[in-house]
Amino acid sequence: MSKKPVIIFEGIEGSGKTLHSNFVSEYLKSKNLSFIKIREPGGSKNSEKIRKLILNDKSKFNKNTDLLLYLASRSENIHLLRKYKNKKIILIDRFVDSTIAYQHYGLGVNLSIINKINEYLLKGFKINFTFLNIVNTKNMIKRLKLRKKLNRYDKFSTAFYKNVQNGFIKLAKQKKKKYLIIDSNKEIEINKKIIIDKINRLIK
Ligand code: TMP
Repeated sequence: MSKKPVIIFEGIEGSGKTLHSNFVSEYLKSKNLSFIKIREPGGSKNSEKIRKLILNDKSKFNKNTDLLLYLASRSENIHLLRKYKNKKIILIDRFVDSTIAYQHYGLGVNLSIINKINEYLLKGFKINFTFLNIVNTKNMIKRLKLRKKLNRYDKFSTAFYKNVQNGFIKLAKQKKKKYLIIDSNKEIEINKKIIIDKINRLIK
């Protein structure tokens, strides 16, 4: 029987995170493996409502309100994640490390508050592996320009995204064995192969 890991895709805007997580869902589908895929913020019905509120252009929340809303959206997903833990492969487009990277490294919110609330919500729910997708500033700007609609979190300065990405890299270095950095400035097909090879090892 194959393993049922919890696999996270992280990265800043334009990092190829969603593209790569879509490759993985297509691959799992082609192998008839049972999995669920959610995104954060969003995923479940209530969490999607919170996503709309946070990312809406007209929302002008302060950084602490944003933190609490991202965590509220996670709180609405946790029952779903517990339900499928060890029963299906779980793919998540952004999770806890996005909160640390954006709210702490990007916006300067106190790290221990973020860690405390996450621990309280997750209560031992463990992640098995994270793909961190990285991109250089030039490609990030190019990819953001291709988007038809930009949300509230697509409009920060390039310096902000640099801080967020460096934050993600710090987290990846702390948890080396459970992270793989994917350089999304490289050829899509090369990355696809690296990711699928790793997925095969994770589910074996
Ligand atoms: P995306 O789903 O299109 O990647 O957009 C979600 C945005 O929300 C993205 O800019 C990252 C941000 N975000 C946070 O700031 N903190 C979080 O905890 C999460 C999950 C996302």
